[in-house]
Amino acid sequence: MTKGRFSLLPGRREIVLLALSGILVSACGGTLPPPNMTDVKATSTRWPGTTFEQLSSGRRAYLKKCGTCHSLKSETAVPREAWESTVNRMRAKNGAELSDEEVADISRYLYAIESR
Ligand code: HEC
Repeated sequence: MTKGRFSLLPGRREIVLLALSGILVSACGGTLPPPNMTDVKATSTRWPGTTFEQLSSGRRAYLKKCGTCHSLKSETAVPREAWESTVNRMRAKNGAELSDEEVADISRYLYAIESR
């Protein structure tokens, strides 16, 4: 009798897969930290005058705009110094629709959290 194998109750394998997908989902954006004042300091060394509001906007724009063509990349995907040119490349070559402000805010936000 193999009928029981088609039961609607999840088996051990399904439970493991569910748990794994939960971990993956949280690794892709769910745990992206909001900025704090230490981030503002770290980023101001590189771009004087950076504000907390700018980093917050950067995080929002990142979540909204950077996961449409590919999954959201981790802040460690490129060295922190390369975020500005990478985000610019997304717009210039890959067709990402970003304003100048969004390019600046997203680059600063990713630079900041990679500096932690
Ligand atoms: C319109 C589609 C599109 C959008 C939107 C987009 N990307 Fe990309 N991204 C690509 C393509 C295509 C590649 C592969 C080619 C390349 O590396 O330029 C890529 C590659 C990357 C890489 C790997 C590059 C490397 O050097 O290892 C990173 C990191 C990245 N994207 C970050 C971002 C961030 C951050 C955003 C939001 C600002 C973003 N992407 C938005 C299309 C997009």
